[in-house]
Amino acid sequence: MRIDHSKLSLDQPVSYLDPNRGTHEEAAEWLRFGPVVPVALPDDVRAWAAMSAAAAQTILDAHPDLSSDPRHWGAYTRGEIPAGWPLLNLIVGESMLNADGADHRRLRRLVSYAFTPRRIEAFAPRIREISGELLDGLESGLKSGGPGAVTDLKESFAYPLPLLIICELFGLTEPDQQHRLRGHFQTMLSVEVSGAERQEAAVGQREVLARLVADRRAAPLGDLTSALIEALDDEAGRLTEKELIDTLEIILLAGHETTVNSLTSTVHALLTHPDQLTALLDGELDWPAAVEAGLHWNAPLRNLFMRYAVRDTDLHGVTVRRGEPIVVGLAAANREQRGTVPARFDIRDSRHYDRQLAFGAGPHYCLGAPLARLESAIGLSQLFTRFPTMRLAVPESELVPVISTAVNGVAALPVILRPEPT
Ligand code: HEM
Repeated sequence: MRIDHSKLSLDQPVSYLDPNRGTHEEAAEWLRFGPVVPVALPDDVRAWAAMSAAAAQTILDAHPDLSSDPRHWGAYTRGEIPAGWPLLNLIVGESMLNADGADHRRLRRLVSYAFTPRRIEAFAPRIREISGELLDGLESGLKSGGPGAVTDLKESFAYPLPLLIICELFGLTEPDQQHRLRGHFQTMLSVEVSGAERQEAAVGQREVLARLVADRRAAPLGDLTSALIEALDDEAGRLTEKELIDTLEIILLAGHETTVNSLTSTVHALLTHPDQLTALLDGELDWPAAVEAGLHWNAPLRNLFMRYAVRDTDLHGVTVRRGEPIVVGLAAANREQRGTVPARFDIRDSRHYDRQLAFGAGPHYCLGAPLARLESAIGLSQLFTRFPTMRLAVPESELVPVISTAVNGVAALPVILRPEPT
């Protein structure tokens, strides 16, 4: 069927962005309609979806007709988006993620100094320690469960590692508060709970962060929360109370939920590409390259929500009307970029991942990319050095994808850490 691309409009979505469906089969289907297509999101909210690398790049590179600020989203300002809509909490927060221009630079500058590659490198010994302690915990579990015991590596390693690291950077050190925060974030992002449950989780999450701010205000430490409170309290008015909480929310959430899936997917890839794992363990390949190949193979952020047209604009053959939103299909664009559809995990061939889109591009390029890269490389090298014979506990075909419109990966990664020699 010939499709007249210029006739596409949000009134007639070509498909539904299905949280239950594999990212890549969906993208392959949509790309037949063109690089930018109208789709329906949950609750029949309409958006354009950019699924090709070229379209993703155009949108992310500070496009003059597009904004990150949801006040430009027509359906939202008209009150048409249900209060508990998945991701609404993130989209409407007053953080750098949803700001443009000078506001964006002001909010980003307040924390960016802490995330430079040099600063993050200085944190490496502590990352090694945290990762080593988690592996000690897995080792003790082996003693009680026996060598054939099945461990969900996502739950027992890939989740706690980035969570503990980002919480430490922000001075959220009480385990019960970390646990509460993680639970609230999971509910807020879930498409399997009701809107009311999502809203309740958003309130709970704000309570944890408000308590963190109160604690650090009473007893400042050298952490990033204390630095943000200083910016809030100084005379220059660099930050408002709401921006402070929303900044904490976006960094604590972005700082672990994505990295969890990056770690899990790369372990998954290595366990199913044993020749490349052997080359890593023999020192022929290096761990940072494995992280890049993993990010390319399965970008942890499946779709980036969203950009909004500030005026009618032509985008890769379609007309996006003022106020319409655009989702960027990072996982699909990442693979399409170098013609690696279907997927190819190849650490040796860096042409596939040297300019990938997993961390976005342009002014909103991921602030935490150096941290995510370092903690993933350290975590993977320590994990496989400790458990070099680890294997999947189920056939790969039985791994279940996460149900989500935003993140990408498997729901659980059951492994046998140290199988008995056969
Ligand atoms: C593998 C892990 C990660 C992935 C795949 C990832 C992905 C992304 C992407 C695609 C964006 C661009 C969003 C946009 O353009 O609207 C972004 C922004 C951001 N990320 Fe990450 N991220 C990861 C880890 C982290 C970590 C560890 C942190 C902790 C500091 C972090 C903090 C942020 C922040 C604060 C932004 C907003 C930047 C801005 O708007 O200027 N991310 N991330």
